[in-house]
Amino acid sequence: MNIPTKKNRKILVTQALPYANTPLHLGHILEAVQTDIWTRFQNINNNECHFFCADDTHGTPVMLKARELGISPEELIKDVYKDHKSTYDLYGIKFTNFYTTHSDENKKYSEYIYNEAKNNNLISKEKIEQLFDENEEMFLSDRFIKGSCPKCNEPEQYGDNCEKCGASYNVLDIKDPISTISNSKPIKKESEHIFFDLSKKADVLKDFLKSSNFQEPIKNKLNEWLDDDLKKWDISRDAPYFGFEIPGEKDKYFYVWVDAPIGYIASIANWAQKNDKDMSELWSDNSKYEIYHFIGKDISYFHGLFWPALLSSANFKLPDGIFVHGFLTINGEKMSKSRGTGILARDFAEICNPETLRYYFAAKLNNKVEDIDLNFEDYVQRINSDIIGKYLNIASRSASFLKKNKNNISNDIDRSLIDKLINEKENIINLYESRNYSKLIRLIMDLADIVNKYINDNTPWKKDAKDAIIISSTAINAFKILTIYLSPIIPNITSEAFKFLNITDCSFDDINNDLTEQINNYKPLLNRLEPLIIPEEDDMDNQNIINIDQFSAIDLRVAKIKEATNVEGADKLLQLKLDVGEFGERNVFAGIKSAYKAEDLKDRLVVLVNNLEPRKMKFGISEGMVLASSNDDGIYLVSPDKGAKPGMQVK
Ligand code: MSP
Ligand code: ZN
Repeated sequence: MNIPTKKNRKILVTQALPYANTPLHLGHILEAVQTDIWTRFQNINNNECHFFCADDTHGTPVMLKARELGISPEELIKDVYKDHKSTYDLYGIKFTNFYTTHSDENKKYSEYIYNEAKNNNLISKEKIEQLFDENEEMFLSDRFIKGSCPKCNEPEQYGDNCEKCGASYNVLDIKDPISTISNSKPIKKESEHIFFDLSKKADVLKDFLKSSNFQEPIKNKLNEWLDDDLKKWDISRDAPYFGFEIPGEKDKYFYVWVDAPIGYIASIANWAQKNDKDMSELWSDNSKYEIYHFIGKDISYFHGLFWPALLSSANFKLPDGIFVHGFLTINGEKMSKSRGTGILARDFAEICNPETLRYYFAAKLNNKVEDIDLNFEDYVQRINSDIIGKYLNIASRSASFLKKNKNNISNDIDRSLIDKLINEKENIINLYESRNYSKLIRLIMDLADIVNKYINDNTPWKKDAKDAIIISSTAINAFKILTIYLSPIIPNITSEAFKFLNITDCSFDDINNDLTEQINNYKPLLNRLEPLIIPEEDDMDNQNIINIDQFSAIDLRVAKIKEATNVEGADKLLQLKLDVGEFGERNVFAGIKSAYKAEDLKDRLVVLVNNLEPRKMKFGISEGMVLASSNDDGIYLVSPDKGAKPGMQVK
């Protein structure tokens, strides 16, 4: 096999950076799979293509989530980083670099781009009025405000629009506003913000829309926005905020959408540094690379207008294209946690082989901005019929005849069948390139049908050994070509298939080379999928049926509170020193401050989860958890009756 040496095109691709406050769901995987397939395709088609991503770590939700968990934002984003990275791994997403926006590189590039924008007269300051939460001492972004609609009076409306009557309004006009963070009534307060003057970049943006690669509806939408008055973009947020401080300012931070896309550049820079690559060749004013962003439709404005404006103000190359996909629905419904369809990527990977989801997404994806439905019945049927019934079937059928020939392949094969498959190479390349994966899969499966029909028509089981070997050798060579065609989509299955064929991973160049080596015995490369049963969200919460061994694994013990103290800087936590009898003393941070005063807790008996892995928190190490019941009304500690002794087991 010749390994391709020429690397004609040089390409950088990115996918949107997932927020670091939640685990990944299947919508994230849809985007990752679309991007990963394209990257892998480029590389096996003799291009040099790199795939960059990072966690999007800044902003208020991350700050609040960390506070809720009683850990620092830095710790939270470290944990989430590990979780995100390993989840992408499960789905075979092969990043060149997966980094974080909370990095030195990103700080440097954010400051640089901001300073360049400032030098180019694009930055100004203005006082604005916002709602301010006096309890939390913070300004509230729209998503943390609820109240009644100023038009129709419908209560419980969030942010700046009404779900009942559809009105949009200034969030300052919402009636009886409540801060959803502290449940208190916010006040109006003024503060100075920093703005980026987008309208000064209107001409650059118009050129960008003409010269770069966009899907028609996205181009139209961006043009519409451009023809409207371009408002100045508010790029600062007041403290407290988890992010980068704006140079030359006090207590002002870059709005997360400033440093998030700059995180693309920072991820590349981090990789470049580790791999001795020249950043000016990768991404600068005279970059040698094509640059493409894969994103979902909800963030088109940021990528189509703000981002190129930022780039151009500091003289960075603008992207060559922005590829937008629609949203994933599940069994016809919008993904929503409350309706049980917000399936986490990690949970789904336990239910079935994650590689099969790559295939299913590919079978549904095209280059349109349409939404995509994951239908469980269709999914199972599709995988069983396509991958097992058509593609792998060719290998298992042929292998049984070849085994009789000590797994040796004949080089006297039926060229007309092989040529049919080779002749589709250009079509297949074009379908990959244009991200028309659904059509591509249909074409590859049509080819698999042709091969199966060839076997059926030639009936090797009725032929003498010599003819049966020729038929099977032809079919196994066809299988090799299909394997190369499918390899960007199901890389693990095809990599196993290459092992079975006794060749190493192949490029599109190898399509013309016949198999010459002895192959290996065939082992099934995928098990049939059984009907998928995903527990509803309620059931997921109540997946409470455990066996006695699982229950016994939790060591519950009576403990006595020797001392309870407030924790400086933590609104919700009390620090408890517990006497656990024979187990000694334990330090536990408990989120019960809203319900208990520290001084009332001394000598109280509680139930401790005694064998919980210690958790490092911002304030120290927590060595267990005490049991309490809670809902929105309050928190109630669980206490054994008098007489129970510290250290006694609770069973
Ligand atoms: N952090 C920003 C992106 C910053 S890029 C500089 C963000 N994060 S996100 O986690 O909310 O979304 C990440 C990507 O997943 C986005 O492209 C978004 O469109 C996509 N999706 C989120 N939900 C989705 C579905 N239900 N279906 C398909 N894609 C979805 O936005
Ligand atoms: Zn309304």
